[in-house]
Amino acid sequence: MELPYSEPFKIKMVETVSRSTAEQREKWIRDASYNLFNLRSGQVYIDLLTDSGTGAMSDRQWSAMMQGDESYAGAASYYRLKEAIKDITGFDFFLPTHQGRAAENVLFSVLVKEGDLVPGNSHFDTTKGHIEFRKATAVDCTIGIASDPSAYHPFKGNVDTEKLERVIVNAQPKKVACIVVTITNNTSGGQPVSMSNLREVSRIAKSYNIKLILDSARFAENAYFIKTREDGYASKSIREIVSEMFSYADGMTMSSKKDAIVNMGGFIGFRDEELFREASVYNIIYEGFITYGGMSGRDMEALAQGLYEGTGYEYLESRIRQVGLLGSRLKEYGVPVIEPFGGHAIFIDAKSFLPHIPRNEFPGQTLAVELYAEGGVRGVEIGALMADRDPVTRENRYPALELVRLAVPRRVYTDNHIEYVAAAVANVYERRNSIRHGLRIISEAPILRHFTIALERI
Ligand code: F0G
Repeated sequence: MELPYSEPFKIKMVETVSRSTAEQREKWIRDASYNLFNLRSGQVYIDLLTDSGTGAMSDRQWSAMMQGDESYAGAASYYRLKEAIKDITGFDFFLPTHQGRAAENVLFSVLVKEGDLVPGNSHFDTTKGHIEFRKATAVDCTIGIASDPSAYHPFKGNVDTEKLERVIVNAQPKKVACIVVTITNNTSGGQPVSMSNLREVSRIAKSYNIKLILDSARFAENAYFIKTREDGYASKSIREIVSEMFSYADGMTMSSKKDAIVNMGGFIGFRDEELFREASVYNIIYEGFITYGGMSGRDMEALAQGLYEGTGYEYLESRIRQVGLLGSRLKEYGVPVIEPFGGHAIFIDAKSFLPHIPRNEFPGQTLAVELYAEGGVRGVEIGALMADRDPVTRENRYPALELVRLAVPRRVYTDNHIEYVAAAVANVYERRNSIRHGLRIISEAPILRHFTIALERI
């Protein structure tokens, strides 16, 4: 018999998760104003809100933490992390930050000014938030096919390079601050960007003397897709692919809470010493001295080790296979999901799931609430709530896709948990026609509203 697939790790420590009844959940979600961010974790059975900071660290990461050097300046842990970053990404200069959005804040303090444009593929919401906060504009140049949830393209996160070049050419007298390419493209469904696309974007950036920055939260998953889908990369190692990817960029921002499998941390990588020096000033103001920048020494140790584990082929294979298992099950149950399946999450197409709920009643959030009520599973809306209002007109923005994301934490849940989640979604799908109305907003913040929004059932 051919031996079945099994994970390249075993479990050393467990955490109890609590189940609940449908009545309890109905009350809890009402008390939470139908905002899943307001739930306590104990009210959630399987938490697929995010894959960010929720991974299980390894025995080696925990033991590395014991070697954390907590010196304010010049800590050994800083230098160990510096070496790991150089080794994996090739960047000579780096600044630690407490997480990804802090890296964006520091870097954009130097690069982005009022009136600027920042084109790329789809910017993540904090990235867009930091751009718009500076009264600049994020321009989404993702290839058109990405907005068709079921159309197949191996690299649906790619930048439409013709559109990018048009944006640059038509920008004058506005300035293009930099190009930001997010790998993988979270907003469009955890979709990868091909090496050839990165190469072409880099060529365009260089020809206009514009810096190319990679938002690298899931760079290793992106490399896995390049290895398994792009011609010429099957025999290359993940680390070889990663180093080629970064070779096209002038800098990177990193939320280490994803592919580096730590619970907290981030950094900025720079090729250019001058830019590093300018950003250092902001790092000191916002984050901390340049050799710790919001991270403790032990966190830098765990991150250095995590960068190696997160770029291991066997680990990536097990991770992306498990996410794929969730996608395949949902597909078998007839649930409309974005294809091909993303690297870190499965995205349910809420517009097709609940076609009778108008967009101003937030079908994505409505579905996320129903899924919680059904099985205690917490996902997140990536649709009109998250898209916020237009900063000028203050009208709701309706992105092409209205999604519910089920993000799978790394090395945390078993395949049985995945089967449970798929069954809960299938149950909601079966009773979808009895969900008559969506949600209406009671109160909201002026920026990044989805985190704190209060809603009620219509
Ligand atoms: N860039 C991308 C592509 C992200 O997905 C995130 C975070 C960030 C930047 C910001 O990093 O959270 O460390 O400040 N994404 C999380 C998510 C929150 O759930 O997708 P952070």
